[in-house]
Amino acid sequence: MCAADGVFPEIAVLTGAGISAESGLATFRGAGGLWNGRRVEDVATIEGFKKDPDTVWRFYNSLKKETVAALPNDAHKALSRLQKAYPAKVSIFTQNVDLLHEKAGTQNVYHIHGRIDRALCMNCMRSNPSESEITFDAPCPFCGKPALKPDIVFFGEVPYYLDLVQQKLSSCGVFIAVGTSGVVCPAASFVFTAKENGAKTFEFNTEPSGNPAFDTAVTGKAGETLPPFVDKILSAVERQENLF
Ligand code: OAD
Repeated sequence: MCAADGVFPEIAVLTGAGISAESGLATFRGAGGLWNGRRVEDVATIEGFKKDPDTVWRFYNSLKKETVAALPNDAHKALSRLQKAYPAKVSIFTQNVDLLHEKAGTQNVYHIHGRIDRALCMNCMRSNPSESEITFDAPCPFCGKPALKPDIVFFGEVPYYLDLVQQKLSSCGVFIAVGTSGVVCPAASFVFTAKENGAKTFEFNTEPSGNPAFDTAVTGKAGETLPPFVDKILSAVERQENLF
């Protein structure tokens, strides 16, 4: 298709734990998953947090150390390259609480499940940076109450940016899911919304989900499959052609 009229479709990208696997961070499901040895109910629910905040903070403090040390891989870098060079909007939504997209230079990353480097006060509901270790009895810098929880969306809580995501899913012409098992809602439904709105849909995963809403499933490690895909899109852009 020729894009001589300068019209390139907007791209929306949803990433999950699999994109950070090649940076050494564990995924949630599957062997070596983050939840190994830890019951989700204990470390990712409000009930678990209220019951034992000390354990939950220790869990996220240790995860914070690991994620701060991690470096972006070729998949994060490819998306950053795409966002910089593609002539239309490239929006990145991530379920990951790590900051590897930002470390790769990607702008305006929407962390729909929160961020490891922030804490949310359950008293005044303000979010604040929490770069160092936090203990459950630490006071909120705003209201002074010891009511800080990791600013991470626990099961049963509403993810962030959902209105904005819906807007992007209606306006995008291309939807790409990278390294997500597609079993946690509402992110699992994004591909359906994008497709209903006419987007071309792509999945990059080591194990294809088999979800028929994806037009194309690319099997392999994202760090190996995503860079050549981005190269192809950007070469087409140079020729003023729309690959999609
Ligand atoms: P999962 O752990 O459920 O899925 C990771 C996906 O990445 C799997 O489908 C793997 O096949 C795939 N994968 C692994 N290595 C890969 C690689 N190198 N390249 C490409 N794909 C690879 O992680 P998410 O889908 O992100 O929520 O999980 C969604 C949510 O479940 C998380 O955000 C978390 C969890 O409960 C909260 O913390 C609220």
